[in-house]
Amino acid sequence: MHPQRKPLMAANWKMYKTVAEAKDYVAQLMALLQGKNTKDLPDIILCPPFTALAPLTAIITQLAPAIALGAQNMSEHEEGAHTGDIAPRMLTEFGVQYVIIGHSERRQYCHETDAQVNAKVKTALRHGLTPIVCVGESLTQREAGQTDSWVTQQVQAALDGIASTDRQRLVLAYEPIWAIGTGKVCEADEANRVIGLIRHTAETPAMRVLYGGSVKPDNIQSLMAQPEIDGGLVGGASLDPNSFYQLVQAAMPLNV
Ligand code: PGA
Repeated sequence: MHPQRKPLMAANWKMYKTVAEAKDYVAQLMALLQGKNTKDLPDIILCPPFTALAPLTAIITQLAPAIALGAQNMSEHEEGAHTGDIAPRMLTEFGVQYVIIGHSERRQYCHETDAQVNAKVKTALRHGLTPIVCVGESLTQREAGQTDSWVTQQVQAALDGIASTDRQRLVLAYEPIWAIGTGKVCEADEANRVIGLIRHTAETPAMRVLYGGSVKPDNIQSLMAQPEIDGGLVGGASLDPNSFYQLVQAAMPLNV
């Protein structure tokens, strides 16, 4: 991690946890964080399912600014006839500060396009939400030597038309699709290299870029030791508060 960019650890719970389970998790995480000074902590972002956002707001507020809430997706539209979608104001109403945009599962299963990702990023910024924009290549693309060109074009498309001052408000996440949920983490130096390329493509040195894809307590240290990696976007290992807390500890600015 880089001394001028604050580390960030984001939990992407995906389609896991009822409200009761989410509350129980936060209570356990709070107990683990008790006595820690906020300035010694990384930014901690919890991205529960939509249903748990409102119930968690009241609890999280007590922990602000140590912990913030993020949504896992959002419509690019302000409001309208979009059955099943969620509008930005429905998130900000509950104090949600972050939103994951363009996760590969949404690109793959919901056919989200680069143009949609770009529109969502613009909508999020307009509403003061911090987008966590995901990019990453498939195994086929990696094996064909297309990682760099693919990731570069994804970043360019996501940031198209976004001014450099606004780019600083964004977080990007490099999530190689072959590493997500597979237990096959990208080698730390390779993740560092691609993340360096992402930051260079974004032309924003202050922008935080995370790594995601099978981040676990046993590989986080080597990832966080890399100069380009500012933190993690974590699925499986974020579902247990003890395991997520270990990741948070590894991302502490002073590693205290
Ligand atoms: P994983 O998921 O940590 O379970 O690999 C990461 C993600 O999809 O954001």
